[in-house]
Amino acid sequence: MTELNAFDGGWADTGRSLPLLAGAAYASKRRSAVSERFPGERVVVPAGGLKVRSNDFDHAFRPHSAFVHLTAELGTHAVPDSVLVLEPTGVGHTTTLFTRPRSPRDGGPNGAEFHGDRRYGEFWTGRRRTLPETSAALGIEAAARDGLERALRGRVPTRVLRGVDAHVDATVAPNPRGDSELDAFLAELRLVKDEWEVAQLCSAVDWTVAGFRDAVGELPQATRLARGERWIEGTFNRRARLGGHGLGFETIAAAGAHACVLHWTRNHGPVREGDLLLLDAGVEADSFYTGDVTRTLPAGGRFTDVQRRVYDLVWAAQAAGIAALRPGARYGDFHEAAMRVVAEGLDAWGLRPYGSTSTTAESDLYRRYTLCGSGHMLGLDCHDCAGARRETYPDGVLEAGHVLTVEPGLYFQPDDLTVPAELRGIGVRIEDDFLVTADGALCLSSELPRGADEVETWMASLR
Ligand code: GLY
Ligand code: MN
Ligand code: MN
Repeated sequence: MTELNAFDGGWADTGRSLPLLAGAAYASKRRSAVSERFPGERVVVPAGGLKVRSNDFDHAFRPHSAFVHLTAELGTHAVPDSVLVLEPTGVGHTTTLFTRPRSPRDGGPNGAEFHGDRRYGEFWTGRRRTLPETSAALGIEAAARDGLERALRGRVPTRVLRGVDAHVDATVAPNPRGDSELDAFLAELRLVKDEWEVAQLCSAVDWTVAGFRDAVGELPQATRLARGERWIEGTFNRRARLGGHGLGFETIAAAGAHACVLHWTRNHGPVREGDLLLLDAGVEADSFYTGDVTRTLPAGGRFTDVQRRVYDLVWAAQAAGIAALRPGARYGDFHEAAMRVVAEGLDAWGLRPYGSTSTTAESDLYRRYTLCGSGHMLGLDCHDCAGARRETYPDGVLEAGHVLTVEPGLYFQPDDLTVPAELRGIGVRIEDDFLVTADGALCLSSELPRGADEVETWMASLR
């Protein structure tokens, strides 16, 4: 007698015909650029896999940005362990996406996956696309990941984006120079954003702005709670999940002296009426493009005189940085412009670190109060294009289509004896997102008020 299996048979055919995604044509152009750059070579770009959070639970999956850039895959559908392979032909490359297909319901080698596999089964983590559905949505030939090893065989010169998929790394012998050239090329390919990417970034920033509005609306409630920072974080994060895939980075909700910690994400502190709240947050769209915005807000709605003095100096520094954005400018110019304003402002307050006589931005001593650079490229990663070569990014020149943040700050640590007591524990950062245009730069986050008066008026209107 055959054993009865509770899951055998009786399943309807639910195959779908999916339209080509809007981003697919742009991703196809990017793959062509890769093909042109590496003729005759196999190029392997993995998405990466699941990472265990604890025991049998994983972190939410987030594919590598280079993979996203070349596929235009969405957060609602991204599949762990997918690998994009460009295989050289005589005249270019063919592209195949090796991926996990939908769990089959019809027995066979993976026949129990759909109900029995906690990580990949359809009844545990949801339906994936079938291979034809993936091909239709992305416009890329799709094949089962099981076939990857065979596809990576043969004596074809191969470059791999390393450190993303351990199995791929172990399967293909390293090509140290070739692999790191690929890494840099893929990062640099992302420097100039196309029109579709700009639209994605605009949408991510719009959702980010909405999250800031929500947070301001919740400030009165936050000041009543022992962990008010968490309330602000949760408020922003709810908007991020509603409008996008999630967060571009962990939300920084830093009240009082926590604002002097650049990446304060513990967020377990209170938000007191007289405190400044530094909220640095970004919504990551379904397309994985992210916003990255900071506002430093008086929790009670009005800046004190000393808070405003610090705020106004950072605001002036940011304005100087923004004014330096234009195609052809050196990438470092906006930081230098912002730091010059900071140095002059601190000097006017008589605040010379260690009695230094230098008032120039180059004086590294001011770093004690400014801590870090004044911005970075923005895109699929919050700190986008980090793998680009020095000469094309930090020592490079701004071009139309670059998207970057301008985010100077001043951070007076609560135990810093080089500053007057009234400044200690004040941290201010103002951060906005900019698209470099043909003749200047466009602020994508201009909907959020920036100047101290505007901020107070805006906050009063939302309370
Ligand atoms: N949110 C991290 C940064 O601004 O760089
Ligand atoms: Mn930033
Ligand atoms: Mn930020």
